[in-house]
Amino acid sequence: MPRQITLLGLESSCDDTAAAVVRRDENGRVDVLSNIVVGQNDLHKAFGGVVPEIAARAHAEKIDLCVEKALTEAGVNLSEADAIAVTAGPGLIGGVMSGVMCAKGLAAATGKPLIGVNHLAGHALTPRLTDGLSYPYLMLLVSGGHCQFLIARSPSEFSRIGGTIDDAPGEAFDKTARLIGLPQPGGPAVQTEAAFGDPKRFKFPRPMLDRAECDMSFSGLKTAVLRTRNELMTGNTMRQQDVRDLCAGFQAAIVDVLTEKTRRAIAVYMDENPSEPSLAVAGGVAANTAIRAALESVSAELGVKFTAPPLALCTDNAAMIAYAGLELFEAGQRDGMDLTARPRWPLDSASAPMLGSGKKGAKA
Ligand code: KG4
Ligand code: ZN
Repeated sequence: MPRQITLLGLESSCDDTAAAVVRRDENGRVDVLSNIVVGQNDLHKAFGGVVPEIAARAHAEKIDLCVEKALTEAGVNLSEADAIAVTAGPGLIGGVMSGVMCAKGLAAATGKPLIGVNHLAGHALTPRLTDGLSYPYLMLLVSGGHCQFLIARSPSEFSRIGGTIDDAPGEAFDKTARLIGLPQPGGPAVQTEAAFGDPKRFKFPRPMLDRAECDMSFSGLKTAVLRTRNELMTGNTMRQQDVRDLCAGFQAAIVDVLTEKTRRAIAVYMDENPSEPSLAVAGGVAANTAIRAALESVSAELGVKFTAPPLALCTDNAAMIAYAGLELFEAGQRDGMDLTARPRWPLDSASAPMLGSGKKGAKA
C-alpha cells in the first residue's frame, strides 16, 4: 500500500516569498496543509516594477519565517517531511538563490532529500493538484512573466507548442494601467474599468493571428494603447469614459488573441488523441473573468474539459512547488548540494528559445 508522503516547498523566484506543506495520504488524496505567501508589492511600488536587488534581499529576510509559519500552520514538524522542494529557476537569480540556499540548509541539517523544481512545472502541474487531471493535458500558462502553451506528459516532460515572442499579457495589463493612471497590479484594475467600457470603440491590433502557429505577440498592443492614450489626454487627465473604453478595447484584443491561439493549440493537442482531453489555465491573468469565459467556451465547443484552479493556486505560491516536488520525489528525483539556481530554464529544452524579457528576467 502506498505510504503517506509530505513535502515542504519553497518559492522565491519573483516578488512573492512563499512556503507550503503538501501531503498525499495512503489513499492517494492530496491536501495543501499550509500555503504561506508574503508579497513585496509595497517594496517595489515606488519603482513601477520589481527591483531584483530589493526582491532578493526581502526573500533572504523572509524565507525562513515563511518556512516556520508553513510548518506551524500545517501542524507538521520538519522531521516529518519526506523531502524539501525548492524553485531552482527560472526567475530573478538573487531571489531563486535565496530559496535554494535556504532549502540546502534545511536539507543539510535534517538529512532530507532536496528536490529542485522548475517554477513553470509548478504552475503546469497545479491542475493535477487541484483537479487530478491525467496526462497528457494542455496548459495555457499566462501571467506577468509567462505566456505559453504546454502539453504536460509527466512531471518532467513538457512540450511547448507556442508562446509569446515578447511581452506576457500580464505585463501588457500592468503597462496599460500605468499609462492611464490605474493602480498596480494592472490586471484587476483594467478588468474593472473594462466592464463599463465599449470594447468596439477603439480597434486595437490582434498580432500574429494571420500566422498559423500558436505563437503570440503583445508588445505592439502596448504601443497602440500609448498612441490612443496620447490622443485622448487633455493636459494630464483622461475622461472616465475614455479610460473605460480604452480598457475594454485592450482587454478584448487580449481575449481574441488568447482564444484564437488556444483554438489552434487545442487542434495540435488533439492530434495526440488524448483519452480525456483537458485544457487548464494558470497564472495571474487566469483570474480575468473575460479570458476565463472565452477559454471555457472555446473548450466546450471543441469537446475539451476546462479547468481553472482557484486564484491562490494560479498566482505564484509554494504549494505548487511542494506538489511538483512530490511528483518528482515519487519519480525518483534527488538533487545534491550542487543544485544551482537557474535564471533561465525552459521546460521544454527541445523547443526553440523564446525571445524577449519579462518581469522575471529573460523568458524561459
Ligand atoms: O502569476 P502572477 O501572480 O505572477 C507572475 O507574473 O508570475 O501574475 C501576476 C499578473 C500581473 O501582471 C497582474 O496584472 C495579472 O497577473 N492579473 C490579471 C488579473 N489579476 C492579476 N490580469 C488580468 N486580469 C486580472 N483579473
Ligand atoms: Zn509564476
